[in-house]
Amino acid sequence: MHKPSTFSSPKSAVHQYSKRVTELISRMNLQEKIGQLSQVMGNDSQQLAEDVAKGIVGSVINEVDPKTILKLQRIASQKSRLGIPLLVGRDVIHGFKTIFPIPLGQAASWDPELIKLAAGIAGSEAASIGINWTFAPMIDISRDPRWGRIAESFGEDPVLSSVMGVSMIKGFQGENLKKSNYIAACAKHFVGYGASESGRDYCTTNIPENELRNIYLPPFKAAADAGVASFMSSFSDLDGLPASGNKWLLDTILRKEWQYPGLVVSDWESIAQLQIHGLTATPQESAFTAFDAGVDMEMVSHTYRDHLTTLLNAGKITEQDIDSKVLRILDLKEKLGLFEVDFTADANQPVFYANKDLEIAKQLALKSCVLLQNNNQTLPLHPDQLNSIAVIGPLANDGYEQLGTWIFDGEAEYSVTLLNALRRDLGDAVEIKFAKGMTNTRSYGTDLFAESIRLAEQSDVVILCLGEESILSGEAHSRAELNLPGNQQLLIEEIAATGKSIVLVIMAGRPLTLEPIVDKVDSILFAWHPGTMGGPAISELLLGVSSPSGKLPVTFPRKVGQIPIYYNQKHTGKPSTESQFIHMDNIPERSPQTSLGMAATHLDTHFSPLYEFGFGLSYGRFEYSNLTLDKKSLDRGEKLHIKITVKNTGKYNAEEVVQLYIRDLVGSVTRPVKELKQFKRICINAGSSQVVEFELAPTELAFYNRNMELTNEAGKFHLWVSGSSSSELMAEFELTHD
Ligand code: NOJ
Repeated sequence: MHKPSTFSSPKSAVHQYSKRVTELISRMNLQEKIGQLSQVMGNDSQQLAEDVAKGIVGSVINEVDPKTILKLQRIASQKSRLGIPLLVGRDVIHGFKTIFPIPLGQAASWDPELIKLAAGIAGSEAASIGINWTFAPMIDISRDPRWGRIAESFGEDPVLSSVMGVSMIKGFQGENLKKSNYIAACAKHFVGYGASESGRDYCTTNIPENELRNIYLPPFKAAADAGVASFMSSFSDLDGLPASGNKWLLDTILRKEWQYPGLVVSDWESIAQLQIHGLTATPQESAFTAFDAGVDMEMVSHTYRDHLTTLLNAGKITEQDIDSKVLRILDLKEKLGLFEVDFTADANQPVFYANKDLEIAKQLALKSCVLLQNNNQTLPLHPDQLNSIAVIGPLANDGYEQLGTWIFDGEAEYSVTLLNALRRDLGDAVEIKFAKGMTNTRSYGTDLFAESIRLAEQSDVVILCLGEESILSGEAHSRAELNLPGNQQLLIEEIAATGKSIVLVIMAGRPLTLEPIVDKVDSILFAWHPGTMGGPAISELLLGVSSPSGKLPVTFPRKVGQIPIYYNQKHTGKPSTESQFIHMDNIPERSPQTSLGMAATHLDTHFSPLYEFGFGLSYGRFEYSNLTLDKKSLDRGEKLHIKITVKNTGKYNAEEVVQLYIRDLVGSVTRPVKELKQFKRICINAGSSQVVEFELAPTELAFYNRNMELTNEAGKFHLWVSGSSSSELMAEFELTHD
């Protein structure tokens, strides 16, 4: 059973540092202390070597040459006065060399164990060249698919994001950070970055405190409770106070309320950017504001290095304040075992792309694919009934584009593409013809269409592989439209005109508005950017070796204008209902204003999303029945035991993600129409059934009230268990106490 640990009690208040760390800080001079607070670009320059030798660099970022890393660590540990090694940071987001699906795809797997394994592999590959700190997981709640960084997130739900974030942290950090294959993780971006206005990256966010606490903060609280080694302060401006200068966030909430003992690093130059935001007038003010707010280490910009001494001399900050930041950095270095590493020894041979790791990459890609449509059971394909397949599209055989965003160190030549995997899996049994169809996903040229149509006509079935190239999502890659870019829709329409069955495989970094093409194709498999082993995973699904089992971690809108659209919305005073909904095309002439139903909807599109959160089809067919609760009312100290029978009435053995939702009917602040609380991934053979059990504690029903207290409120709840967020099978219970 997967549930977050969001509501666990705070840890002990005073953090104890080791003798080594406290002795070390007592011997450090001011310059060395301030140096520890600086993260600089790694390189092989004479200047950096000298700075490291002087002991005035705490961390380097983005150096990936193992020889240079070792050289810098040797200087730091042997030539600097106090021998303090470096934190070596890198964005290892969804793999280092072996690339796993983008995090949004990983979230679609609803498989925390696999995510943990994948992070373990990513961390261990990175550690093998000397990296000891990654800037992941990104646990920003993302309700806006226009935002390019939704690709790096675990989607829109606080519980799913918490569970996945904690799994990733555990994968990176292991049980003991001292082991050489584990690296420090970083919970980012604290906080609210995903709410950037209109999805434009780096934009303003305005999040009321109640929503912040109930929706945006829980994954970070879960990360803190799970012992994440570091936090990153966001670029974004939260209610007028950029996060990197926001004392309420970094001090009141993170340090005081949550008692978080770890290190807070700024985002890239986000301290210097406080001036660009217009919060501060000078770099010195920026340094003071971030320092005072609670940022320990400055990433890349150097306001701390340039101004902390002046601020100290002016009495604006104290040496004790500096020490408390340095201690957190030294503490992490100690936890990572860096003081015990023998950097004089030759570096180990890096280990990349181990077969067993590629298998995990394939498994995760396989479980992350979401089957959105399967008309006439076009999938799985039956090779024994086929003579030829046309594989068409710019993403069918492009090892680079299937990797997705944030793959600094990924190598396209190790990718196995869908075309190659299908050829390997089908051998000579079925003829496979390939046409790229378009030069890239954004092109408008139609020159390559004719060949694609010809191949489609000559084949029994068409597999179209379309979507978005990697460059269309990720940091600073937001979109205003969410359609299939370029002339992809036209390509689909022209191939559909051949009358052949079409299986559409989409690789993309975000939900797309697929409404205009759903009736032009038979099946749609949404593969996100699936990573190095995307091809074999998709091939296995198309050929029915495995059944699709991914579920959407984010709502797919019909139209961009519906955004933000998410399943855990509020009920409103005038909820939209089917009986009230009239599309504007059907409004009779001169209808009076009040004849339209007066509900919370648009006139030009249905109020529902195209595909809801938690949705995903399977080759199995799951029937849910006998939802039973062991009690009707839940007292203090009790747990609600829930049982449901899930039967696979289909012909294929398949995995299913069983999801438990609740609704708190009346609250002192309005509660969402549904809230995911727990989930379980199960495997059911064709024709078999399984009783799935959950146990729900009152703490999981708690929420932040109007006074911003985490509280339970007595009253009635609805409870659903199903394979998506839209379910009919409901039970009711009552919580007896506040
Ligand atoms: C900026 C990004 O916002 C952050 O996520 C990343 O970790 C840093 N750059 C370092 O590359």
